[in-house]
Amino acid sequence: MAKKKRILSGMRVSGPLHLGHLVGALLNWAALQKEYECFYMIADWHGLMSEYEDPKRVPHFAREYAIDYIASGLDSERSVIFIQSDVLQHAELHLLLSTITPLGWLERCPTYKEQKEQIQDRDLNTYAFLGYPVLQAADILVYRADYVPVGDDQVPHIEIAREIARRFNHLYGTVFPEPQALLSKTPRLLGLDRRKMSKSYDNFIALADPPQTIRQKIAGMFTDPQRKRKSDPGRPQFCNVHTYYEIFAPDEAPEVAEKCRKALWGCTECKAHLAERLLEYLAPLISKRNELLANPELVTEVLKKGAQRAKEVAEATMSQVRSAIFGA
Ligand code: TRP
Ligand code: SF4
Repeated sequence: MAKKKRILSGMRVSGPLHLGHLVGALLNWAALQKEYECFYMIADWHGLMSEYEDPKRVPHFAREYAIDYIASGLDSERSVIFIQSDVLQHAELHLLLSTITPLGWLERCPTYKEQKEQIQDRDLNTYAFLGYPVLQAADILVYRADYVPVGDDQVPHIEIAREIARRFNHLYGTVFPEPQALLSKTPRLLGLDRRKMSKSYDNFIALADPPQTIRQKIAGMFTDPQRKRKSDPGRPQFCNVHTYYEIFAPDEAPEVAEKCRKALWGCTECKAHLAERLLEYLAPLISKRNELLANPELVTEVLKKGAQRAKEVAEATMSQVRSAIFGA
């Protein structure tokens, strides 16, 4: 049997994980475990870049991420689940890669330019923020990952990682494969108000939300703006509630559309029903979450084992990196 190709991905620790992360990334990551050797990281150092004024909550968030990862189906028997800062080799490689990364690559990076304009509530005029993609490249290259499953917003970062790998290999001899982005075809889940689902808009359902909160949030979802009265026929194609049915209860979506178009039910009823279907969909995740919350040592164990395995692989790469640069 051919050796499995290796995957690395991760999420920056900031705010709670929500349904958008679940359908946009975590379920895809879980499915990839069948075919690939997977490393799934909790990027707490990347989180620190925006949370540096309030860093004490980062470790708490990181553990919550571990709980959400596992509850979403990431399996520590098959995959390496770990916290970035447990593997110091990322920091060493980050430094070494920074020496060969031209500033222009970072200054031109579209995510850097956008975030600099958008984020006004804290000072992101830092060295680390500019270097964000270099740390991300180190995360990927230290495992010599072949593929990186990410959303399209991350593609420029993967491109920088490829360029850094190429430049390293050219200068010091080939150590790194050029990692490729693995774009998933997962649906884009909009927020409760139809804007992008984002913690800055507070328009999301967190994986940690209790059922009652989920019901309330669904009840508050925006619907077809032209449907004012229950007797007005609705337009499911312009209603986010219908999109949620398509994702979380696809068997019922056609019937929901029909009842909407023919004004056979009101939006309140439609949403209340969606909430129940969503809770059914989430039931296994919620029960796994509760089990982990009741047994925190299980999470500690997964992260300890993950860090050990990650360190082994990362250290093997680093000894090659050191001899490539400095000679044996
Ligand atoms: N930048 C990614 C995000 O915004 C997180 C991340 C950090 C990452 N290191 C990575 C993703 C390496 C893929 C590979 O969530
Ligand atoms: Fe949306 Fe349902 Fe109301 Fe139709 S009935 S507009 S699908 S919430």
